[in-house]
Amino acid sequence: MRTTTGWLAGPDDPTLRRATLHRRDLRDDDIAIRVDHCGVCHTDLHALHTPRDAGLVPGHEFTGVVTETGPAVTRFAIGDPVAVGNIVDSCGKCPMCRRGQENFCAEFPTLTYGGTDRHDGSPTLGAYAREHVVREDFAYRLPAGLDPAAAAPLLCAGITVWEPLRALGTGPGTRVAVIGLGGLGHLAVKLAIALGAETTVISRSAGKAADASRLGARELLVSADPRQLEAARDRFDVVIDTIAVPHDLGPYLRLVALDGTLSQVGHLGSLTVEAMDLLVGRKKLTSAGSGGRPGTAAMLDFCVRHDVTADVETVPSARVNEVLDRLSAGDVRYRFVLDLADLDHADS
Ligand SMILES: NC(=O)c1ccc[n+]([C@@H]2O[C@H](COP(=O)([O-])OP(=O)(O)OC[C@H]3O[C@@H](n4cnc5c(N)ncnc54)[C@H](OP(=O)(O)O)[C@@H]3O)[C@@H](O)[C@H]2O)c1
Ligand SMILES: [Zn+2]
Ligand SMILES: [Zn+2]
Repeated sequence: MRTTTGWLAGPDDPTLRRATLHRRDLRDDDIAIRVDHCGVCHTDLHALHTPRDAGLVPGHEFTGVVTETGPAVTRFAIGDPVAVGNIVDSCGKCPMCRRGQENFCAEFPTLTYGGTDRHDGSPTLGAYAREHVVREDFAYRLPAGLDPAAAAPLLCAGITVWEPLRALGTGPGTRVAVIGLGGLGHLAVKLAIALGAETTVISRSAGKAADASRLGARELLVSADPRQLEAARDRFDVVIDTIAVPHDLGPYLRLVALDGTLSQVGHLGSLTVEAMDLLVGRKKLTSAGSGGRPGTAAMLDFCVRHDVTADVETVPSARVNEVLDRLSAGDVRYRFVLDLADLDHADS
């Protein structure tokens, strides 16, 4: 076993504390990565506040540099800039894996944190840490044109909205609405616009209207105002719902156009749906999460060509608890990214 330093929450406490962590010794197809930047996803907040038996190290959208390679590694060399998302392994054999949708692996993909390693059964620890060890197949070359801090959120927030946007055929002529302008939401807006779609933001208040406009959105509708939603009835071909809490889908399904689709990616618990909200207009309800390896590589390529990265506030990792409190309060525009370099110093 090798050791690194990171931010660990105990079983009964959401507070992260600096701790020495164990990483596995490199297997033949592993690379070791010095983690430089890790995005703070709302899922990290959910995980920290979910009861659990073991300690938790969050962090599943990160960039860094390869520091060591296993003997069978062919795609990476020491010094290469890389990016890793929220899955780090899968069976590789099931129909989903064979189609390049490792995120839907029949054996469930290995999550970057809070999962179980497929080979040695150890719990996976995330990238709020200075070093990570992963199979080379689940690391992506970070294109030179992408800023490493602003690119980190592409690996969870970005890919989670990219796959449904692509699967639903988003392009010129598509009318897209993005509900919730947060980490996922602002990347959904940027990606939809870069794909050529006419894009609208739906937010709880008008407070983010200037940002929506700066991002290139056509308009911002205030979800708290029933008249604004009523005026947009049946308008959108694709609706991406990123709201981080349980909510009534009815008002949002009514915004979907004939044969259009609402992709609910924000709240991953149970949903209640009135059949009439789908019946009227033959509307479709779907969900998505994370991405397969080909899709993730394609997204990174698209982001370089279209200059898409996250709007980030980069902070030293020692401020992680403060940042999580601010994320919980909605005080972020639009993604916190931890700079892990402070872990090299004994007193951070
Ligand atoms: N499907 C997946 O694989 C996947 C991957 C990553 C994250 N997630 C989930 O996606 C959700 C969003 O993540 P994120 O990192 O984008 O979070 P975030 O940055 O906090 O953004 C969530 C947005 O939802 C809206 N919102 C928050 N609380 C709300 C409330 N009480 N009522 C209505 N709207 C509310 C806010 O938008 P406005 O201020 O504009 O209203 C907020 O900006 C989380 O639940 C996360 O766990 C899912
Ligand atoms: Zn995430
Ligand atoms: Zn599989």
